[in-house]
Amino acid sequence: MVSMGRFITFEGGEGSGKSTQINRLAERLRSLPSMAQVEVVTTREPGGTPMAESIRELLVTGAPNSMDSKTELLLVLAARIEHVQKLISPVLQKGGWVLCDRFMDSTLAYQGYGRGMSMEHLLMFNQWALSGLKPDLTIFLNIEPALGLARTKPRGANSEQSGEAEDRFEQTGADFHKLVYDGFCQLAKDDHERIKSIDARQNMENVQKAIWEVVSGAFPNL
Ligand code: TMP
Repeated sequence: MVSMGRFITFEGGEGSGKSTQINRLAERLRSLPSMAQVEVVTTREPGGTPMAESIRELLVTGAPNSMDSKTELLLVLAARIEHVQKLISPVLQKGGWVLCDRFMDSTLAYQGYGRGMSMEHLLMFNQWALSGLKPDLTIFLNIEPALGLARTKPRGANSEQSGEAEDRFEQTGADFHKLVYDGFCQLAKDDHERIKSIDARQNMENVQKAIWEVVSGAFPNL
């Protein structure tokens, strides 16, 4: 596909501050004179379209072991295909910027490193689902899972559709979150050109500054 816009993804474990930072970056981008004519869209995965948000509900609610890993993977991918086709690609094709809270690296970290599914299969599935789309830049908000999980507030109030707590992954054991975290660190090491690791233990203002340095360095025409 031809992409003219810019696609930035945010990755990290639970409580790494992604949603706050993504909104702050969007505000900053929208305030720039060079971006006056450019649409800046924030979105999230799983989710981002009505159907993908319904799939999200299945994924994030219920008991930690309520579904097989393969079911989980296919739901994640189904939501992603809807999201890419109905929202992300159309915005990029119009020259807009998309800032997305989680994307394909979450599948590698959670389903690959966390659940132990074959990385080879996951890369193949991701490629198939994405039809060649790849983020221009990925910000990894790097914080140890114990610290991040302690920051997560009870998620009940976050569930927009069912009122049920969105904590199926949070409830999964500490060993799982350690595997996911180590996975993100490894992914950032392996693809350091695209994935930039930022120390998310700092206060929000410093994290925001560090993100801006990375973004303005990556897109010098801003
Ligand atoms: P969130 O709480 O950051 O919005 O994300 C919802 C959960 O979905 C999070 O715990 C991680 C999980 N997830 C996966 O397991 N695989 C994926 O590919 C994505 C995008 C999310």
